[in-house]
Amino acid sequence: MDTPELKKIWKEKYQVVASQLDKIKEIKAAATAFNANIDAVIKISAARLKELIDEQKLSLSELEDIKETKINTTQDVIKGIFKCFKDGIAEEWITEDKSVYDWMNKAIGYDRLQIGGQGGIVANALATVGIQKVYAHTNSLPKLQAEQFLKRDNLYSFNEKGEPIPAYLVDRKDDIALIHWIIEFDKNDVLEIEGKKFKCPKSNRFIATYDPLNLKLIVDKHFMSYMHQNPMEYVILSGFHALTSNNKGAALIDGILPDLKKWKEQSPDTVFHLEVASTQDKVIRKAIIDKVAPLMDSIGINERETIDILEVIGEEELAKKCQEITTSENLFAGIVKIKEKTKVARIQLHMFGLYLTLQDKGFKITPEANLRGMMTAATIAAAKAGTGSIDDLLWAHGKEVSDVGLIEADSLAWATGQNDLAQTGIGRYRGWDLIVVPTILIEKPLTLVGMGDTISSLSLVGAR
Ligand code: GLC
Repeated sequence: MDTPELKKIWKEKYQVVASQLDKIKEIKAAATAFNANIDAVIKISAARLKELIDEQKLSLSELEDIKETKINTTQDVIKGIFKCFKDGIAEEWITEDKSVYDWMNKAIGYDRLQIGGQGGIVANALATVGIQKVYAHTNSLPKLQAEQFLKRDNLYSFNEKGEPIPAYLVDRKDDIALIHWIIEFDKNDVLEIEGKKFKCPKSNRFIATYDPLNLKLIVDKHFMSYMHQNPMEYVILSGFHALTSNNKGAALIDGILPDLKKWKEQSPDTVFHLEVASTQDKVIRKAIIDKVAPLMDSIGINERETIDILEVIGEEELAKKCQEITTSENLFAGIVKIKEKTKVARIQLHMFGLYLTLQDKGFKITPEANLRGMMTAATIAAAKAGTGSIDDLLWAHGKEVSDVGLIEADSLAWATGQNDLAQTGIGRYRGWDLIVVPTILIEKPLTLVGMGDTISSLSLVGAR
């Protein structure tokens, strides 16, 4: 079947998205935990970066001398931005030094503040699509941070007394604002240092994080006790990726496991989903895969995270192959390994142009429902990319799916021997169900931060 025909088929399938949005409103309650913070977003030009480099008196060789991907001094912030700018990549480095945070506030500033952290971003997304009650875990919620939550009465967090109230109204006076600087730069901007030119190959971002609470996995006991008494339909977990071995991260994960197990036991009908997220520390990454993922019903990952996981489960060769040739076929082989290793019932990969779900036969969400959820997520993600927000949920409704998505779906069809996969989106692999959806791509996305979190969570709650 040729591409125009396939596009027509998918355009028809995507019609269902409008009615999925009504079905989502039937969901009574969902929760997100554990990480929510403020993202201070700033677009930086090459010219401004050059000023900062000069102010900090950094030579080119100093800029390139990176010993650890961590921020100990103000100069490290500049080194991180420079690295991501010249390679067009995304990285997040952490600082534990309050004086660096104060300097960033003064010297870097920001264009806007918005909710950040997987938990925070997903809570806003779930409230926007109209889930009746969304509960966001927050370990710190001063007024400035609370105000980043949507001003909606279906989005709750907990005040000092432990009462659930609309999150935007919370004002925990003793709490501190946890701020992550999202420093974005544009493709093709040119930086010149010591006569050498660096042209940014891809619009991307460097994240400089000051967050003493999320880095220690501090949990709000009020939230937890509420969860133990009030089962949710969906729980979206994240935030383990911010831990480090230096900070006893592995012990922190061990420490929270009994609570997670208890939570699961008390909510047998809840779907627990883990958004794995980019985890720099390999010890932590391994602990997440070995210990947290197996407790979940579902996990969500992107291309990079798939490769990173393969590296810590003894699949270095396959990781290398996926890194060199990042196709759906290679990544699918990776997903199969991760599924075998974690035994998690449902895995969803979101890659450029394609979403792919591999799940146990008989899992409580049917393949057809998954397909509808994934198309719902793709439509809303396109709105986010195209308009910078998801306020207009159906902005991308009726647009065609991308060529690259169809090509990837087709090669996966060949690789798995499921000839109709690129048309139907539903196939099988071994004893599992395989669901693929080519997505709507936006040529020049206005924003990328939090995209993966939005896709995973909306695919899940939209799967009805
Ligand atoms: C990481 C960052 C956070 C950002 C999020 C987006 O958790 O720390 O600042 O909002 O990723 O996915």
